[in-house]
Amino acid sequence: MSEASFYRQVLRPLLFRLDPEVAHKLGLWAVANGWVKATDSEPSLDAGKTLFGVKFAHPVGLAAGFDKDGVALDHWADLGFSFVEVGTVTRHPQPGNLPPRLFRLVNDRALINRMGFNNEGADACAQRLDDSDSTIPVGINIGKSKVTPIEEADQDYAYSFRLLAPRADYVVVNVSSPNTPGLRGLQDKEPLLKILSALKDIDTNTPLFVKVAPDLSEAALADVADVVQTLGLTGIVATNTTLSRPDLSSDPQQEGGLSGAPLTRLSDQVIAFLRRHCDAKTVLIGVGGIMSVDDAARKLELGADLLQVYTGWVYGGPKFVPELVRGLQLSGWSPSPSSDTA
Ligand SMILES: Cc1cc2nc3c(=O)[nH]c(=O)nc-3n(C[C@H](O)[C@H](O)[C@H](O)COP(=O)(O)O)c2cc1C
Repeated sequence: MSEASFYRQVLRPLLFRLDPEVAHKLGLWAVANGWVKATDSEPSLDAGKTLFGVKFAHPVGLAAGFDKDGVALDHWADLGFSFVEVGTVTRHPQPGNLPPRLFRLVNDRALINRMGFNNEGADACAQRLDDSDSTIPVGINIGKSKVTPIEEADQDYAYSFRLLAPRADYVVVNVSSPNTPGLRGLQDKEPLLKILSALKDIDTNTPLFVKVAPDLSEAALADVADVVQTLGLTGIVATNTTLSRPDLSSDPQQEGGLSGAPLTRLSDQVIAFLRRHCDAKTVLIGVGGIMSVDDAARKLELGADLLQVYTGWVYGGPKFVPELVRGLQLSGWSPSPSSDTA
């Protein structure tokens, strides 16, 4: 039995018997201790691409939310990822929403979460980054602390940005989580301009992205694209989880953000729209429902420059990323060869 089949036929059924958050913590703990590896060697930079001054061995990175505090920073390369996005990190440490707050929809190959930015805060994250020897690029995703009133959001983001930007290869301003009251309203033109220009005033060097929801109207997406280009931001991460419930067969349908297979089409539409509305130099990081090589290849064809996975990795296991990278090589992208042997 190959290692990929072992995960899917043996390990995953065992993990999926556990409460989803317990299984997540167990998985993260195993990665952080270096007990899970997918490749014989880390992604090689030989055939990679340089985007916004950063070299990527191939396009597949880990999406925000899996390693919120950067506890496993030095090990994501062992799993074949070419970059990792830590966070969401908030200025103040916070516990997030009350559990249960993470749900599996196995028949739909999906997850619903309402974690609510549980994290140890920006100061702890800065320390982790200082202690890290990550061999792959590290992005930091920042969000608004729950205790901070929405009208003071710009100062809250600015604190985290000032501290973390010098330690990151890129920073993402998360205004699209459905689990912090009022947060998604910050995607509107005026508040978004206020937050992002404040960050640009602090530091113009760190590549800056904004992460959008898949539930925005085309007019609202066009506004975000305008703001990004007006301020000369590096790009957009598209997309976060959706509040909509497209084509679900599972019950119960919990409150929170939906990710995985039912999100694929929505996220694809947003990427295609943004590619049409942004100039070629705006970098698009495509995320949302990448469950197969075809999903990954389609996002690249629609105009994504880089990709991220979360739910697909939970369902696919440690061999998921090397499989995607190998598949993308077949589809003609130009990532570096992986020495994975599965
Ligand atoms: C349990 C869970 C927690 C998440 N936490 C965050 C987060 O803290 N910040 C963020 O920007 N996105 C977060 N996300 C969203 C993912 O980064 C990603 O945008 C989304 O899940 C779509 O990708 P996927 O279908 O590959 O999972 C989270 C997703 C999940 C499933």
